[in-house]
Amino acid sequence: MMTSGNKIMDGATALSIEAIEQFALMVARGLSDQPRRLDSRYLYDANGSFIFERICEQPEYYLTRTEAGILAGAAAVIARHTGHVTLIELGSGSSVKTRLLLDAYCEHYGSVKYAPVDISKTILEEAEADISAAHPDVEVQSLHGDFEAAFPLLGTLSPSMLLFLGSTIGNLGSHEAALFWDRVSLSLSPGDFCLLGIDINENAASLHSAYNDAAGFSEAFTRNIFIRMNRELGASLDPGLIDHVAHYDRKWRRVEIFAHFLEEQDIAIEPLGSAFRIGAGEHILTEVSRKFRLEQMVPYLGTFRLETERIFTDSARRFAVLLLRRK
Ligand code: SAH
Ligand code: AVI
Repeated sequence: MMTSGNKIMDGATALSIEAIEQFALMVARGLSDQPRRLDSRYLYDANGSFIFERICEQPEYYLTRTEAGILAGAAAVIARHTGHVTLIELGSGSSVKTRLLLDAYCEHYGSVKYAPVDISKTILEEAEADISAAHPDVEVQSLHGDFEAAFPLLGTLSPSMLLFLGSTIGNLGSHEAALFWDRVSLSLSPGDFCLLGIDINENAASLHSAYNDAAGFSEAFTRNIFIRMNRELGASLDPGLIDHVAHYDRKWRRVEIFAHFLEEQDIAIEPLGSAFRIGAGEHILTEVSRKFRLEQMVPYLGTFRLETERIFTDSARRFAVLLLRRK
């Protein structure tokens, strides 16, 4: 690690001491927990975002292309339905699918304002540059930060539509998700919209394949958080001794993703001067990916004053895009 002022240099990227401390505290808290866990938002550094984009291209990972197909068919209907609103996107990543919506709004209204929000700085900046270059009629104003940082923005941008695509909602636990929907509901103004993409697949075999792709990108994604820990926290781990384990839990209707330690290893957390010993055979939960049922999701969202006005699905009913309106 190289330090410069109050920044730590990671190649071309400068990370603030505060960001490193937050990461260190999250790791220490999660590793003290039982079962041991890590916060999945930390999967997305520049490398993690790059690997996620590769996952999206894999034949087994049906989510991205299925949602893109739904959006391609529904974008014009959505644009007409909402009127000329500002689009705010949480966890926007590369914004590739969002371009289908941006095109539809520009076609209908001549221009559109777009505010992507993401914790992963590199991919956010790349997306902003790409969209600005390719779509002169889109006014892009990106916000680097977590979902919470975006909530104050929502009130100021009404009339708006909040985009939450890719079934990223599934990466929040049920308690965390309820707090999230509370904040969304409080931050949107009555009449504002929300476009939500959710995975509704229940086929265990296809879910297993989606999270265990043959090319190994899912494995690389799980290992990457430990590589990040080596770089930012001086963790001193051998990532080659960490396996990716992902399985679908039918009862909880969620994919659970673990890092499986093949041998005993100590995880040093240099900023805190502490270390954790992980035994051979131990698992650390790195991510959950919850799956949903429309007949439960629609009334659930209603309890947050978010009324479902339209539902768009694919023919195999593996993915759904819900157009919600804040009552
Ligand atoms: N919406 C895109 C990307 C999904 S990947 C798609 O559908 O393909 C999830 C994205 O959410 C990543 O870009 C990640 O960096 C971001 N993310 C995850 N947790 C976050 C959080 N707590 N706050 C802000 N962004 C977050
Ligand atoms: C971003 N999110 C919805 C992905 C998912 O499917 O849960 C993250 C992911 N993790 C492993 N593969 C994909």
